[in-house]
Amino acid sequence: MRETSLSPDGFIYPLFVTYGKNVRKEIKSMPGCFQESVDNIVKHAKEVYSLGIPAVILFGIPEHKDEIGSGAYDPHGVVQKAIRAIKNKIPELQVITDVCMCEYTSHGHCGIIEQGAVRNDPTLELLAKEAVSHAKAGADMVAPSDMMDGRVDAIRTALDAEGFPEMPIMSYAAKYASAFYGPFRDAAESTPQFGDRRSYQMDPSNRREALKEVALDIDEGADIVMVKPAMTYLDIISDIKENFALPVAAYNVSGEYSVIKAAAKLGWIDEERAMMEVLTSIKRAGADIILTYFAKDAARVLNR
Ligand code: PBG
Repeated sequence: MRETSLSPDGFIYPLFVTYGKNVRKEIKSMPGCFQESVDNIVKHAKEVYSLGIPAVILFGIPEHKDEIGSGAYDPHGVVQKAIRAIKNKIPELQVITDVCMCEYTSHGHCGIIEQGAVRNDPTLELLAKEAVSHAKAGADMVAPSDMMDGRVDAIRTALDAEGFPEMPIMSYAAKYASAFYGPFRDAAESTPQFGDRRSYQMDPSNRREALKEVALDIDEGADIVMVKPAMTYLDIISDIKENFALPVAAYNVSGEYSVIKAAAKLGWIDEERAMMEVLTSIKRAGADIILTYFAKDAARVLNR
């Protein structure tokens, strides 16, 4: 009689790539997650694939950050190297890349700063360059998370022009300005140095606006649309599933992971049951794909 079931093949596991060799540094606020150099990322990716998880999404922590985030589109950047290394060793594993500037800019914002504010249009060109450089390195799909207006169109146009007309785009379409990204910003070292992301991320009070954001991204050429965060936005996942015919992804974000890990550590919650309940509820709401730091733990439960 069970209406909803989970499977490892519906998960995407996030990995954090850093520079250097033989680096494997646990992220304090995200137990079980690591910043890893390319050599260790490949080993980790093998483990992920062996659990039946078909895809990873890569985030980069570059050695140097600057005003214009040049590490984001450097052909020898950390993510570009990791893509080549993973595809070389585990070609079946789908490699998705996060396309955003915040991990690469010295100020930690998702776009270019002019006169003290993030500027939408000048940022588009850089995002397109970043997506093309990931495609050239061999990525299977790009996932823009910056929330600039018009970026799906800019990326689609650039990919088509550079010979990647088949490359799919998974857009972070309804991305809210959330407190639950806190631990991720430790992981990616991307906390904004001034201000916040409320000028480009969505207001958590808004429900109908998500439909507008998703419609725009689909119009611009998105192939998969994402809702983020997941747990506190199940109504949004459900609305989007009802209203659009594209696959829906949901990002079970860092803070959603860390609160369960922390409560479990204190003995206040049954970690395994809480994890499976959360993931089931995201699927039940309508997510076809779940991006989650729990992917490996949940796959182990499902495979047993
Ligand atoms: C980059 C980006 C963020 C996350 C994914 N891509 C952080 C942010 O917008 O501040 C958050 C992921 C998580 O919390 O797990 N823009």
